[in-house]
Amino acid sequence: MVTLNTILPIVLLAVLTFGLALLGWWLFIASEGVYLGRRMVVWLYDLFASRYDGVKDFNPIYEHALLAQPILEHIAPHRAPLVLDVATGTARLPLALLKHKHFQGRVIGVDLSRQMLRRAAAKLRGFEAQTTLLWCPAEHLPFADHTFDVVCSLEALEFMPDPQAALHEMVRVLRPGGLLFVSNRINTKLMPGKTWTRDELAQLLVDCGLADADLEPWQEDYDRVWAIKDGDSEVTGARPLGEILRCPCCPASGMIEHDDRWVCELCPGEARIGTDGVIEWFPLQARC
Ligand SMILES: C[S@@+](CC[C@H](N)C(=O)[O-])C[C@H]1O[C@@H](n2cnc3c(N)ncnc32)[C@H](O)[C@@H]1O
Repeated sequence: MVTLNTILPIVLLAVLTFGLALLGWWLFIASEGVYLGRRMVVWLYDLFASRYDGVKDFNPIYEHALLAQPILEHIAPHRAPLVLDVATGTARLPLALLKHKHFQGRVIGVDLSRQMLRRAAAKLRGFEAQTTLLWCPAEHLPFADHTFDVVCSLEALEFMPDPQAALHEMVRVLRPGGLLFVSNRINTKLMPGKTWTRDELAQLLVDCGLADADLEPWQEDYDRVWAIKDGDSEVTGARPLGEILRCPCCPASGMIEHDDRWVCELCPGEARIGTDGVIEWFPLQARC
């Protein structure tokens, strides 16, 4: 005969299993590892890199109209900017720009997921003269202050442990008068605490030294944010990487390309170039 004493442990076990499954789903899938630290986020992106484009299913017509075209309109009449895309993923933004018939600039994409970059490199084949991919964290960008004409970061700040520090780092490498283009996640039902309200972000942009901030609704889950760095300076233009890449161990010095690696002008630091062309700057930084 079935009694309460026999059923109760089964019910408790079922509830516990369901609770743990729900917690696991929320921690690893719904919130993409953001509460478990940077390593977990990157590990998950490495794991699911081959499925990213299939899940996102970006429409090239929208990418042209909502990314490439407005960037070029913001920086008109310049057509050959030096662009940095932070957390570039599988090269969504570089591809949108490079496919725009008026874009004559150069795009540098950085990301901390090596597998996302591997896919980005495959998609950017044929555009090598105008692109560089760097395995590197958003929090330590290997470039001098005031380098880029445009700095972008889409659907990424919410995954970083200290998005404010990452934003400051992006503004550091942006030249005075340069354009910042980032997204701000507004739908955070499943990622509480991982966003800024519009007012908070507007204040943060001012604190970072940005002016003319324009925050507008974009996709279902995101606002799109444009801002200009205070001041004015010459357009940097599509310079070669050798003129702007810095050594992580002695950041005042540049790096020179030698066969399959970039070597520091001063110290023994070397960043390998992967067989897919990605510059593996991150392991060097970790050793400094
Ligand atoms: C949702 S994807 C967005 C990719 C791309 N920007 C896009 O719009 O398709 C988030 C990306 O942020 C990267 N990422 C997360 N934390 C990072 C960090 N601290 N530094 C650099 N990249 C990071 C991930 O590896 C991933 O490729």
